[in-house]
Amino acid sequence: MAKTVKLDPINKETSIKTNDNLLSGLLGSEINVLKECGGRGMCSTCHVYIKEGMESLSPLNRREQRTLETITSCNMLSRLACQARVIGEGVVVELPSGMYFSDIEDIEALIGRRAEQDILHPLDGKVLVEQGKLITRSMIKQLNDTQVEVSEYLANTQEA
Ligand code: FES
Repeated sequence: MAKTVKLDPINKETSIKTNDNLLSGLLGSEINVLKECGGRGMCSTCHVYIKEGMESLSPLNRREQRTLETITSCNMLSRLACQARVIGEGVVVELPSGMYFSDIEDIEALIGRRAEQDILHPLDGKVLVEQGKLITRSMIKQLNDTQVEVSEYLANTQEA
């Protein structure tokens, strides 16, 4: 049996097999989710807000709880889409705004231009570059360090 999940604010609906995670529904709706940690509940790139129907999702597990505690934009409605399984109807998901930083080359290509949206840290979701800010070479150096830090963190938690 499948459950219907609404995606806000893009006003889309998706069908998710009962007990499958929200992430499968987002990807099935062609929403670009970075899933930096590969769906292991260790990053912030699949962080979503549940506007309605929290009771129709599986309960928080320990890893999800721990990761959510590190996400700066986390609130009572937060879940990780790769960890939350859909068990009932009525779920409405809101996708946080901003874009997760993943590839330094993509950002380098934007030097001298203004960021079109907030660029977010893939582990804790903090804003690395604010929307409207000019992208400079010195920012690239910092982002490079961030990229190294993220890959090291995820490599060290490989078998976690
Ligand atoms: S993809 Fe990393 S926590 Fe869900």
